[in-house]
Amino acid sequence: MQQVRNRTGHDFSGYKISTINRRLERRMDLQRIHEPQAYLVYLQDHPEEIDLLFQEFIISVTNFFRDPHAWLSLSEQLPALLKQAAQTGQEFRAWVPGCATGEEAYTLAILIQECIADWEQPPAVRIFATDVDQTAIEKARVGRYPRSISQFMSETFMRRYFSAENDTVRIGREVRDIVVFAEHNVLQDPPFTNLDLITCRNLMIYLERDRQGAAPGTVPLCFA
Ligand SMILES: C[S@@+](CC[C@H](N)C(=O)[O-])C[C@H]1O[C@@H](n2cnc3c(N)ncnc32)[C@H](O)[C@@H]1O
Repeated sequence: MQQVRNRTGHDFSGYKISTINRRLERRMDLQRIHEPQAYLVYLQDHPEEIDLLFQEFIISVTNFFRDPHAWLSLSEQLPALLKQAAQTGQEFRAWVPGCATGEEAYTLAILIQECIADWEQPPAVRIFATDVDQTAIEKARVGRYPRSISQFMSETFMRRYFSAENDTVRIGREVRDIVVFAEHNVLQDPPFTNLDLITCRNLMIYLERDRQGAAPGTVPLCFA
């Protein structure tokens, strides 16, 4: 973990040791190394293996509308939250820590667009979407996904919010423009502030219980 921290700047000491051990074992198996000491030496001689270990630790599985029941429940609460912002004339600000390649943040953006589409005076909306994985953040900014994502949402949403690009689909500009992606570590960097909503899904489960409270800071409504 020291070597991963030195190379990537990210500290995994707050992660569940059982998860870290499983991930370490997987990398060691792939390299056919059976002794921890030998793997340490291998890491010293092969810095690119440290990058692979980092990718192994962060676990980037994600999807649009993952856990649909949770999104259904949130969509029932969104009108009231957005109305509050509209009434005060303030920007509606949401934060999605651990956003991976953008699917969760764009799911939230789609639900917000659906909610305010026919409002006469909708609030301005800004979604901050962050992750430790810089490569994932770059993909998220582009917003291009395989056509197979259509299995996770209705045809109407696919038609309304995506356009076909060769054998992929790309999220439309009106949704892309309200999401700001940035590299950020919930355990090391200061939290975002002045928020109306945080959605933080499938990230806290990887952290030790005493570190789960350390992130993501003061939370008005956390949908985790
Ligand atoms: C399993 S994915 C979940 C992605 C998305 N939230 C979802 O539910 O579909 C976990 C994400 O958390 C990110 N992550 C892990 N540790 C993090 C940390 N300390 N700060 C910010 N993001 C982190 C990983 O890079 C990964 O993209």
